[in-house]
Amino acid sequence: MLTLRRLLLTLLLLAVSTPGFAQTRSAGLLNFHANASRFACSNRDSGTVTVVSWPELKKLHEIPVGLHPEGVAWIGTSSSIACCVYGSDEIVIIDADSGQITRRIAVFDEPYGVVSSADGKLLFVTLEYPAQILAVNTADGTIRNTWSVGSMLRGLALASDQQTLLVTEYLTSRVLEVSSTDGKVLRTWDPASTDNLARQIVFSPQGDRAWMTHIRSRVTASHGNGSIFPYVTAIRLSGEDAGTRSRVPLDTIRGTRVTANPWDCDVTPDGKTLCVAFAGTNDMYLLGITGDYSELNFKAALQLGNNPRAVRCSPDGSAVLAYNALDFNVTAFSLQDGHELGRVNVTDCPLSEQLLLGKKLFYTALPPMTSRGWISCSSCHPDGDADGRTWQQPEGLRNTQPMSGLAWTHPLHWSSDRDEVQDFEHTIRGKLMQGRGLLQGSLPDAMAEPITGRSAALDALAAYTNSHSFSLSPWARHGLSEAALRGQQLFHSEQTKCASCHKGPLYSDSQPLPREQLILHDVGTGTDDPSELMGPRYDTPTLLGVYRSAPYLHHGRAATLKDVLTTANTGDRHGKTSHLKPTEIDDLVEFLKSLPFEDPEPQATATGIRKIRPEH
Ligand code: HEC
Ligand code: HEC
Repeated sequence: MLTLRRLLLTLLLLAVSTPGFAQTRSAGLLNFHANASRFACSNRDSGTVTVVSWPELKKLHEIPVGLHPEGVAWIGTSSSIACCVYGSDEIVIIDADSGQITRRIAVFDEPYGVVSSADGKLLFVTLEYPAQILAVNTADGTIRNTWSVGSMLRGLALASDQQTLLVTEYLTSRVLEVSSTDGKVLRTWDPASTDNLARQIVFSPQGDRAWMTHIRSRVTASHGNGSIFPYVTAIRLSGEDAGTRSRVPLDTIRGTRVTANPWDCDVTPDGKTLCVAFAGTNDMYLLGITGDYSELNFKAALQLGNNPRAVRCSPDGSAVLAYNALDFNVTAFSLQDGHELGRVNVTDCPLSEQLLLGKKLFYTALPPMTSRGWISCSSCHPDGDADGRTWQQPEGLRNTQPMSGLAWTHPLHWSSDRDEVQDFEHTIRGKLMQGRGLLQGSLPDAMAEPITGRSAALDALAAYTNSHSFSLSPWARHGLSEAALRGQQLFHSEQTKCASCHKGPLYSDSQPLPREQLILHDVGTGTDDPSELMGPRYDTPTLLGVYRSAPYLHHGRAATLKDVLTTANTGDRHGKTSHLKPTEIDDLVEFLKSLPFEDPEPQATATGIRKIRPEH
């Protein structure tokens, strides 16, 4: 059987290995050195970067860098690596020969993608929030330019002529071409309104196209096989159709076989094959690039490990590597016949057994979480963040909430209709995911007696979901600004009454109480959605982290914090704001953007707020 499969793959892939074109540079979680003797990858959960020899697959160094490292890039042809440490807001420079950190460069917030210029003199970096591109001098670590473009930037690639950068917007998949000398936006490729979660972008070696994976979120269809679809999009850079983009659905490219959560892709050096990894179904497709409007055809599929997040072809075109985030290893496959060349453990699993199981369940679109493989919890809650979407749920319009600090903010949902994460068994078994589920037997009403302790798998899913912590606002890193201090006064004033509901260290009066005693408020937001079945009273949301979680309110109808206080509060039912001068509204917004300006957990513990603790 195996030989037959290999033979088939050999025939399909025969033409893959002729290298040819000038190297462009793409940000990624795994990248090869220019001479292909080593690669580096970031390990998000471990907080480390690993350097591995190629093709020996020998682990050379593992370097602790900080919280949640993402993009890694080799600097020019040198032995230095730049890594974006997303959670620590730093770019860390590592000497890959010694495994030592040689420099730490502080940035404003959330560095995600990094590429180096060919001569190694400059690094370009995307900051996801607040959507900036930085140009950094590698000689002294100074930030030469800061350019604000687009929103929520992730992917980044530098053209071979070094003149232009492509960047992707995470929550829309819009692509911008930006001048690498002055940061001007030269062209944009606008997405369909449903396109979502675009990460890395890679040039074709010929430089005529660029490729990125993303999903499509059909927010009006809240059932498993109609909501979320896997895609690759081609951006056309030159030729007659320059400036256009086309979207290739990956759920129909191989008969009826469904894949979920395409996370990364790479083009073989000969420009003929696109390798796409699916983080929800743990497989990789090798797709032939056709050069016409059909763009891609199916060639072969490879079985990967758990939650593959990065794909890179070796520079000689002989192999494709996959980074299996939840197996903590990298596997290499031959591009000649698809057989596994080897694997290397890049880091030890830093998670407890329970958190690892919970995280695997959260990321997988395979049974028993679903029956048909379309969707996973992470399709809407990637890394515990919100997807920036408002979904048409059976109970009405519902904006996806971020999960930071979730262990502190039970009950759950805008309407407080779930009292523990274990109740998401209703989501798993329901129309959205259509899974068999994690619990034996009947499932009680979500607000009835707790189901904690009935299923180790469900408890693990809950433990992982509850493990996302708050992160401090970058706007208050040096304390509250003058404007934010004025806003703080207004927030706590008797006039506005904000703090009467948004109170205490979590800025919420919500409490885990029986259904009849729940604290809910009608703040005048429950009448403008005809599909609403549960309003007009809602749970007071925490305000910690609202600086990055637009849109706002349960129905997502407020695009900005200012809108929450103005256009969405015309009747003064959501605190009193109509008497405020425009500058006072601005001050209040500055204060909201600064939350949290200190770690809320010690004070929350001191005031007796209940935290859900994972069992180990
Ligand atoms: C189709 C997108 C989608 C999928 C898939 C999804 N969710 Fe959600 N999730 C949402 C939306 C929208 C909300 C807000 C709903 C509400 O409040 O009524 C939400 C809310 C939540 C909340 C409450 C957050 C809070 O602050 O109160 C939790 C917890 C959660 N989801 C967990 C999960 C888990 C676990 C899974 C997988 C079993 C999952 N979700 C699958 C869209 C999704
Ligand atoms: C009577 C209780 C109450 C008062 C007073 C109040 N809020 Fe709220 N706040 C809520 C509730 C309930 C919601 C959720 C409403 C919804 O989603 O429709 C909310 C939502 C918000 C949101 C959106 C959060 C998100 O994640 O989308 C912000 C921002 C906010 N409030 C700020 C304020 C400010 C500033 C004030 C004072 C001017 C204030 N609130 C006064 C109860 C209150």
